[in-house]
Amino acid sequence: MTRITSVSLRRVLDSRGNPTVEADVLTESGGFGRGAAPSGASTGEYEAIELPASESIAKAREHAVPRLEGVYAGDQRAVDNALRAADGTDDFSAIGANSAVAISMAAAKAAADVLGAPLYQHLGGAFRGENFPVPLGNVVGGGEHAKEATHIQEFLAAPVGAPSVSEAVFANAAVHAAVADVLDERGVPAAKGDEGAWAPPISDAEAFEVVDEAVDRVEDEVGFEIRFGLDMAAAELYDDDREAYVYGDETKSADEQIEYVAGLVDEYDLAYVEDPLDENDYEAFAELTDRVGDRTLICGDDLFVTNVERLQDGIDAGAANSILIKPNQIGTLSDAFDAVELAARNGYETVISHRSGETEDATIAHLAVATDAGYIKTGTVGGERTAKLNELVRIADDAV
Ligand code: PGA
Ligand code: ZN
Repeated sequence: MTRITSVSLRRVLDSRGNPTVEADVLTESGGFGRGAAPSGASTGEYEAIELPASESIAKAREHAVPRLEGVYAGDQRAVDNALRAADGTDDFSAIGANSAVAISMAAAKAAADVLGAPLYQHLGGAFRGENFPVPLGNVVGGGEHAKEATHIQEFLAAPVGAPSVSEAVFANAAVHAAVADVLDERGVPAAKGDEGAWAPPISDAEAFEVVDEAVDRVEDEVGFEIRFGLDMAAAELYDDDREAYVYGDETKSADEQIEYVAGLVDEYDLAYVEDPLDENDYEAFAELTDRVGDRTLICGDDLFVTNVERLQDGIDAGAANSILIKPNQIGTLSDAFDAVELAARNGYETVISHRSGETEDATIAHLAVATDAGYIKTGTVGGERTAKLNELVRIADDAV
């Protein structure tokens, strides 16, 4: 019933106005699934390769589509193995991870459609309980996502005490609005970055004050605990030649960076710190995790790139205690699930994530529920972000 009869690919717009790949999968019984690839700006050195959309589509049409016809969409591993076989490289550099992930997600949705089940159930969430992922909401940011703003890429609201996913989602939106108020009171104008976070021209130190204040105000309003966290995207700050983290005119050695981050965790009671160190420095990650890993999540994004081999290296070294899962970093849903499973077996928390360039595709909301992830990172406002957040609200309401 779920045998694939056709795969079609097209270029659609992403949230930055760039072309990205959208895939439609049809099955013999009329099942239909559609998936679209997101795209990163602060991409990790070890990510699977994204090709220009047109090139990726042409290559996938030539090599992958003929292999997929006749494969069961309900057998996700068979679909993803066919994609791997069609590509023939480790990093999807032949057909592009953008076409691969779009097809992988579209096939899963087509299978769910045939089964008449929500995607999260087809992906393994039949036993979902009341635990929903906590949404991490980007409220202030800079780095590669906004020039002339903070060096730290993302300041993320973390409504850890929210009684429901809906209250968490609205709390993050309220923090986003409160940040605008605090900036306004300080006379700071702010544009928005790629993910809809405020991108004010202020120092990192001032951004901590602003976010701390905004979180306090909303916490008082809603009456449950809201903390905040960071994505430092430190691989982007790290200069290989100078062997230092560069913050404008200032630099920090690896030891100073560890000291700096450990101090921030304690001063602001941070719930979460993603990529606090360079993607090649497992040792420094391990040292920081040893120091503060009992009271905060140290998460590897560019460090692990959703790759089981890199995650295993991290587990062996004691580097980080959580992993960011971005399906397009590795190319298929099966690979993403393998990373989730390895993480879970080793006590690493999982955080399912969007990219800075996104579409209305809401697959990650289902993925987060299906895998019982502790957190989901998908922005706060803006249509391509609210598509995922609203889907989470619907899943919680049994309305998908
Ligand atoms: P990216 O940023 O999608 O531009 O890589 C998001 C992140 O670093 O988590
Ligand atoms: Zn990141």
